[in-house]
Amino acid sequence: MAVPQKLPTAAAATALSLAFLMPFLLPTEAQIGVCYGTLGDNLPSRQDVVKLYQSNGIGAMRIYWPDQPALQALQGSGIKLILDVPRESIQSLGSDPSAAMQWVQTNVVPFASSIKYIAVGNEVYQYTDIAPSVGPAMQNVLNALNSANLGGQIKVSTAIDTSLISKPYPPSGSEFSDMSFMGPIVDFLKTNGSPLLVNVYPYLVYVYNKQVMDVNYGLFTSPRTILADKATGLQYQNLFDVIVDSVYTALSKAGAPNIAIVVAESGWPSDGGDAATVGNAETYYRELIKHAKQGTLLKPGQGIETYLFAMFDENNKSGDPTEQHYGLFYPNQQPKYQLNFN
Ligand SMILES: *[C@@H]1O[C@H](CO)[C@@H](O)[C@H](O)[C@H]1NC(C)=O
Repeated sequence: MAVPQKLPTAAAATALSLAFLMPFLLPTEAQIGVCYGTLGDNLPSRQDVVKLYQSNGIGAMRIYWPDQPALQALQGSGIKLILDVPRESIQSLGSDPSAAMQWVQTNVVPFASSIKYIAVGNEVYQYTDIAPSVGPAMQNVLNALNSANLGGQIKVSTAIDTSLISKPYPPSGSEFSDMSFMGPIVDFLKTNGSPLLVNVYPYLVYVYNKQVMDVNYGLFTSPRTILADKATGLQYQNLFDVIVDSVYTALSKAGAPNIAIVVAESGWPSDGGDAATVGNAETYYRELIKHAKQGTLLKPGQGIETYLFAMFDENNKSGDPTEQHYGLFYPNQQPKYQLNFN
């Protein structure tokens, strides 16, 4: 559903009825969301960002810290959120239940109707000193939600990257490489019916293996099987399925075959590196939106809630040059690609 970006003032009556109808027209369970990063010095205001999501029919957002102006701008928008607990808060939330209580009171309770998931940490690496705090922080945040009567409505998880999976090729051979880190997290998710949030980047796998890999395997456009998994008989034509199925398999081997996966980030850069072109990126996002509804070979028909990375090109991101070119929109709000988000 596309709502006109700017409503003429003369159409006040239309605007009123649109505003009234919107909650009924928006899907209750958004399948496609977009991550909203803010590391740019030329990005639109929080209010304009929320309007841009609405005018494009994007029903879900991920933000990386409890950004109060963004949380306020989202009030009443109907947009559902993944709200991250940033890295620097994890240790204190893990060791101090009252800090978790305070964090939830300040950042969650006033905005609870917008929040669907809390991600305790993004891509926390298993061998770092905050890693042991992730599980306890998840539990303390959930306890705080429960005491605010929000535990049934908001799910607590963490967002992993797939470097935590060993032997992903083929997917049937995969497992979590460090169960001392993932074991307690998987048990928590299983006990509480939470999904595992996973950042999935076929682009990075492609770049690492570009000498021997066809780019179409990363872009969902390979006309033929690239990887046959002998143990399952599944014939893989795209890397996204391989990566996600490796996580499903690792969860199964950890005793939790029924935990859902939410793809909490996935994207393809338009510039700054090998195969990073506007054409490839547009193909990736378009095919990903279609594919998310279909599910993977291991769980066909089981749609995957998927958050595209990211809303804007962010000119203050450091690291690899591609990092500044993941935006679906330019900072001036013009779309980089022609995409239909629902
Ligand atoms: C952000 O990037 C712009 C463009 O490169 C630069 O002019 C500005 O100084 C940067 N700001 C910060 C805070 O790094």
